[in-house]
Amino acid sequence: MHIGDIRLANRLFAAPMAGVTDRPFRQLCKRLGAGYAVSEMVTSRRELWASLKTSRRANHDGEAAPIAVQIAGTDAAMMAEAAAYNIDRGAQIIDINMGCPAKKVCNRWAGSALMQDEPLALAIIDAVVAACAPHNVPVTLKMRTGWCAAERNALRIALAAEAAGVAMVAVHGRTREQGYTGQAEYDTVAAVKAALRIPVVANGDIDSPEKARDVLAATGADAIMIGRAAQGRPWIFREIGHFLATGEHLAAPEVTHVKHWLLEHLHDHYGLYGGDDAGTGVRSARKHIGWAVRALPGGEAFRARMNLLQSCEAQVRAVTEWFDALADTHHLLPAPMPTSVAANDALNDGRCDNARSEKLA
Ligand SMILES: Cc1cc2nc3c(=O)[nH]c(=O)nc-3n(C[C@H](O)[C@H](O)[C@H](O)COP(=O)(O)O)c2cc1C
Repeated sequence: MHIGDIRLANRLFAAPMAGVTDRPFRQLCKRLGAGYAVSEMVTSRRELWASLKTSRRANHDGEAAPIAVQIAGTDAAMMAEAAAYNIDRGAQIIDINMGCPAKKVCNRWAGSALMQDEPLALAIIDAVVAACAPHNVPVTLKMRTGWCAAERNALRIALAAEAAGVAMVAVHGRTREQGYTGQAEYDTVAAVKAALRIPVVANGDIDSPEKARDVLAATGADAIMIGRAAQGRPWIFREIGHFLATGEHLAAPEVTHVKHWLLEHLHDHYGLYGGDDAGTGVRSARKHIGWAVRALPGGEAFRARMNLLQSCEAQVRAVTEWFDALADTHHLLPAPMPTSVAANDALNDGRCDNARSEKLA
């Protein structure tokens, strides 16, 4: 599978998730089987580029290629400038965000709201493609099926995007109006795939090897993109890869391996966000630890205790001890207990809402 001239290791993608898919998490997903991972969105507002949040998002130190940066905004010239800025900082692929349903991105309606204004959406695509072309950097587009049930215009926008020179399109099988409610549908993704020559990626509610197989079959998509199911379970990529290749399920990972991956992740996380007591690093690590433990026996109680810890050292010690105790009784990671959608959503509070992730910065 290729994006432009860039060859990818496989067709399993980590979805961009603001506040989640930072560099440490992308690196972990890539190590555990993702062939591709897109950055959290970076604003096109120049005055915010020097902010701590944006400079962290534009930090690709040590990241495995290809480096893909998602940009968000509502002004074609500013989006073109943002593309050039990120290419200067190492981006090898530029992704345009037309998928995020947050009310405000960059202080104005952006993300999937752009799907409601097709001329503006296409002006942005044209401007970004023109800015990237001299650098031979491919442009990709992430979008939803449409604005609302009555206006599923993904196919029209995708065809126009392909004609404008976009190299790949990813479609989340929900409308903007749906937010994250209901179920993703894949008929629109299949229609987009059938009409385009460039690669098309299916996204939405893929949370198991079987679902991955079924979505690939139902859509004919070239790749699948996984978001929420990778939270706390980044090895889902290799589980799916193994299942697609062999038809067999990979055994659950060893508890000691999961502990090692989480500690490694925490180490990288503190490296990016800082290791100060009660600082951004320790606070923003809580959700990753929460996702990792919450569906495991005793995980919810541990999460509540862990959330009170104020230092990275205490967090690391607590995680180590908790997983060591789990390893005393379980060699392999126990099957996750069902967690309610509401409980998982609580950890995703704000989703790609810039306002909340700004608070973490
Ligand atoms: C916490 C969170 C943050 C997100 N941030 C972004 C974003 O910055 N850009 C974007 O295009 N989509 C964003 N999304 C949408 C995801 O990329 C993906 O399309 C969506 O979650 C559906 O895939 P899933 O069912 O596999 O999670 C976000 C989703 C979540 C849960």
